[in-house]
Amino acid sequence: MNELFTFLHSWTRWLLLIVGILALVYFVMRRSQARDFNAFSARLLNAFGTLIVVQWLFGLVLFIVRWNSQGSPTGYQWSHLGAMTIAMLVANAHHGWRRRQLTPSARYLRGLIVLVVSFALLIVGILLLPSPIQWRFYPPSL
Ligand code: HEM
Repeated sequence: MNELFTFLHSWTRWLLLIVGILALVYFVMRRSQARDFNAFSARLLNAFGTLIVVQWLFGLVLFIVRWNSQGSPTGYQWSHLGAMTIAMLVANAHHGWRRRQLTPSARYLRGLIVLVVSFALLIVGILLLPSPIQWRFYPPSL
């Protein structure tokens, strides 16, 4: 369980990063060209919000598995949980204005704020971890 969820939790992060960067670049381009807020943009934001929830759930399982096998969580594990929970909530904030009437430009701006603030919190959450595991590629030995 520990190996499996360390692997899942370690690798979903890269998928999240790729989708987030794609969304960021796409939103900047669409907004600067004064384009409509299209279905693909909505899908990108949804994918980012959903992936972070999946990552959060993997983290929660890992947290419980480690608690069971290694005893009480350490300080950095608690702070990691806290920072990532806020990041997950921010990344899904766009559901709050999905049905509201907004200009495409305002919608892209809000989307960009969601992405940038989530990324900042994700980086803080990762920097709270011990340096050897922050950016490693966890070898799959399943
Ligand atoms: C939602 C965004 C999250 C991201 C991007 C993230 C990212 C990471 C990364 C990169 C690692 C190091 C992986 C490795 O060992 O190679 C890690 C470790 C870990 N994460 Fe997360 N995490 C997130 C959320 C959470 C949450 C919500 C929890 C707990 C409820 C959690 C619990 C843990 C635990 C227990 C470890 C292992 C720490 C250790 O080895 O002592 N994570 N996380």
